[in-house]
Amino acid sequence: MALINWSEDLSVKVNGLDNQHKKLVDLINELHNAMKEGKGKEKLGVILNELINYTKYHFSAEEELMRQKNFPGYQQHKSEHDALTKKVVEFSEQFASGSLFMSNEVLVFLKDWLIEHIKGTDKKYSPYLTAK
Ligand SMILES: [Fe+2]
Ligand SMILES: [Fe+2]
Repeated sequence: MALINWSEDLSVKVNGLDNQHKKLVDLINELHNAMKEGKGKEKLGVILNELINYTKYHFSAEEELMRQKNFPGYQQHKSEHDALTKKVVEFSEQFASGSLFMSNEVLVFLKDWLIEHIKGTDKKYSPYLTAK
């Protein structure tokens, strides 16, 4: 069973961004499955890296759109992105150095962060980004 299931209540009403969120959901699910199946460190590291790269890509895409539309909550939104980016980069460094094991705790952190960020923070830009 997937760790996260996409549902309409996660939609930010911007197609491109919903698709990026779906891809992030897929990557976290993939990490979860690989962990459950007892995949080795190398495989987990590959998925984790992909997750970091895609997260960075997605955050820049969102930030670009928010700037274009002069979204007033931009700075605060960007700080949340920066904090999460820092955290996942730390995870991946600790993972690579062997001081962190991929655990349910890490996955639950990523999952909760993603879901709460989409529902609580991303949705706020929705009316601005969908306005003509
Ligand atoms: Fe987002
Ligand atoms: Fe965001």
